[in-house]
Amino acid sequence: MQFRQNISLKEFNTFAIDVKARYFSTFCNVSELVESIDFEPKLNKLFLGGGSNILFTANIDGVVLKNEIHGIEIIHEDAEHIYVKVGGGENWHSFVQQCMKRNWAGAENLSLIPGNVGASPMQNIGAYGVELKEIFHSLEAFHLEEKKIWQFTNNDCEFGYRNSVFKNRFKDQFVILNVCFRLNKKPVFHTSYGAIIQELEKMKVKNFSIQAISQAVIHIRSSKLPDPEVIGNAGSFFKNPQITETSFKKLLEKYPGIVGYAVKEGIVKLAAGWLIEQAGWKGYRKGDAGCHEKQALVLVNHGHSSGQEIYNLSTEIMISIKEKFNVDLEREVNIL
Ligand code: FAD
Ligand code: EPU
Repeated sequence: MQFRQNISLKEFNTFAIDVKARYFSTFCNVSELVESIDFEPKLNKLFLGGGSNILFTANIDGVVLKNEIHGIEIIHEDAEHIYVKVGGGENWHSFVQQCMKRNWAGAENLSLIPGNVGASPMQNIGAYGVELKEIFHSLEAFHLEEKKIWQFTNNDCEFGYRNSVFKNRFKDQFVILNVCFRLNKKPVFHTSYGAIIQELEKMKVKNFSIQAISQAVIHIRSSKLPDPEVIGNAGSFFKNPQITETSFKKLLEKYPGIVGYAVKEGIVKLAAGWLIEQAGWKGYRKGDAGCHEKQALVLVNHGHSSGQEIYNLSTEIMISIKEKFNVDLEREVNIL
C-alpha cells in the first residue's frame, strides 16, 4: 500500500477546505484496512467517505484513510423483498440510480444525497420524508481495537434523526465495511413531503413510479441546494431543533410565520432554515465564509475560506438564534 505524505485534502471534502494530511491512503478490502491501521500505530486514523459531511478546521496530523470497498450484490430474495449488499466505498447516488434501473423500491426519496454508502448509516441519512433506517437491513463493521468484524442489525444501530450508535456509544470505534439494504419489489410511494406532488404535476406525471419520484426529488434538490462542485458546502450545517409543544406555542404567538412540524406527542421540529433566515443571515458573507442565498441552513465556502472561519460563522449564528428565539441549534456536520 502507498501512503502519500503531506497531501492537500481539498479535493476530498465538499467544503473544499484546503488543509493537509500527514499521511493519506485508500483501502479496498479488509486486509488493506488492517495494514493501514497498523501503519504508524501511534498516529490517529481518520476514516473518510465522500467528505460531504465534514468540516476540517486544522491540518490532520494523522493518517486519513479513504474507504474504497466496492461491489453491489444481491444476497437474498423473497416474495416481497430484495436484499442487496453494497460496499462502503460505493457512491450513494450511483447506488440509488442502480435501484431505479433495476426497479428496487425504497431509496428513491434519498436521490442525489452526496457521499458514500459506508457513511449513510452514521447519521441515518434522510430526505423528503424517508430515512435510511426504512430500507436498512444490516451492516458489517470492523472493530478497530479488537480487529474483528461485527454485524449490526437495524435495532443495533439505534437510528434516530441524523443519529446512530456510531455517533454516540461507538463513536470512532468502527469502520463500516458494507451495508445490506432490504428493498421492496412493490413500491410504497412517499409523496407527502414538501413540493414532491407539485413537482410531479409540473413533470406531467400521471402514474407514480419510483423513477418519477427520484426525478422529482432531483429537480427540487437541484433548485435549492448548492452544488458542491460549484460552491463548497456540506448540506445542512445544523440539525432542525426539536422543542416542546408548549415552547412552540409561545414562539408561534410572537412569530406567526414560524415553521414547525409535530414529530411525536408533545414535540415539534422547527425548520432551522426559517430561524436563520429570520435572524437575517441568509445570503450573509464574511470573507469567503457565508450562509447560502437560497437555503439558510447551508453554510458555504465561496472559495478560499478556512474551516475555522466557517466554524466561527456557525458559532455566531448559534448565538444569534439563541438570543432571538431562545432555541439551541446543534451542528449536524462533523467538525475536525
Ligand atoms: P464523510 O463526510 O466522508 O464522513 C462523515 C462521517 O462519517 C465522518 O465522521 C467520517 O469519519 C465517518 N465515516 C465515513 N465513512 C465511514 C465508514 N465507512 N465507517 C466509519 N465511519 C465513517 N445528508 C442527509 O442526511 N440528507 C440530505 O438530504 C443531505 N443533503 C446533502 C446535500 C449536500 C449538497 C451535501 C454536500 C451534503 C448533504 N448531506 C445530506 C450530508 C451528507 O451527504 C451525508 O451525511 C453523507 O452520508 C456523508 O457521506 P460521506 O461519505 O461524504 O461521509
Ligand atoms: N426555510 C426557510 N428559509 C430557508 C430554508 C428553509 O424559511 O432559507 C423553511 C421553509 O419554510 C421550508 C422549510 O424551512 O419549507 C424546510 O426547508 P427544506 O424543505 O429545504 O428542508 P430543511 O428542513 O431545511 C431538511 C434536511 C435536509 C433534507 C431536506 C429535505 C435537516 C438538518 N436537513 O432540510 O437534509 O434534504 O430536509 O428532506 O434535517 C442535510 O442533512 O444535509 C440535508 C440537506
